[in-house]
Amino acid sequence: MSNNIENLSAWQRFVKKMTKANELGKEEDIMTDHDYDGIRELDNVLPPWWLYGFYITIAISIFYYIMIFMGNYNQEQEYVDDVANGKKEVAAWMAQDKIDHPEKYTEAKASTDPKDLAKGKELFASKTCTACHLADLGGSIGPNLTDNKWVLGGGFEKIFNTITKGGRPGKGMVAWEAKISKEERQQLASYIISMQGTTPAKPKDPQGEFTWPE
Ligand code: HEC
Repeated sequence: MSNNIENLSAWQRFVKKMTKANELGKEEDIMTDHDYDGIRELDNVLPPWWLYGFYITIAISIFYYIMIFMGNYNQEQEYVDDVANGKKEVAAWMAQDKIDHPEKYTEAKASTDPKDLAKGKELFASKTCTACHLADLGGSIGPNLTDNKWVLGGGFEKIFNTITKGGRPGKGMVAWEAKISKEERQQLASYIISMQGTTPAKPKDPQGEFTWPE
């Protein structure tokens, strides 16, 4: 490689500037007289890229010192504020009553017809509901569906809407609207209601703020 700076690309010039590396073959110029068992030491300058990084950390530390120790920052207060904000968000979510999806399914009706309930039971297994709620509805990934505590609200309309529109994002309960017909969702909700107050083998602890039936 040529030593002539004119012939270097912009990048090579930049690298040269940032490393200030000593030219190969010119080690003698910067050789120190330290010699340990034949291992000798070069007196290289600190590479500018490293020095600049160091200066930046010094600048940041001054800024940080002023912020943390001279300003009115308070870690405990930040935590308290965050918790208060979180609580406000939860309260707002609860107040909105998310269960009231834009579409209302008032035409859907709970059924107590044994045929519908049998179909609901069959669907509960065939549509994989049992994978998360268990065959006796005791709950595993999803909540226990036999107790009177509900995450998303009890009663036919809300249960029907949960099956239709799903649970909160990311929880695992998807919207079944596209995969299960309205009649079948109606049978599923009716079956779940018919299972109220039964005793599953391993009931999951109650979850949710809503109580139904009271
Ligand atoms: C992948 C796991 C999974 C599958 C499969 C699943 N669920 Fe769920 N289910 C959940 C979870 C998790 C929740 C809680 C959602 C939340 O917290 O927002 C839930 C909530 C519910 C609720 C409301 C419970 C409450 O306390 O408000 C009902 C009703 C329900 N599921 C019925 C069904 C039916 C019917 C099916 C089958 C068509 C089904 N689920 C399939 C995981 C599942």
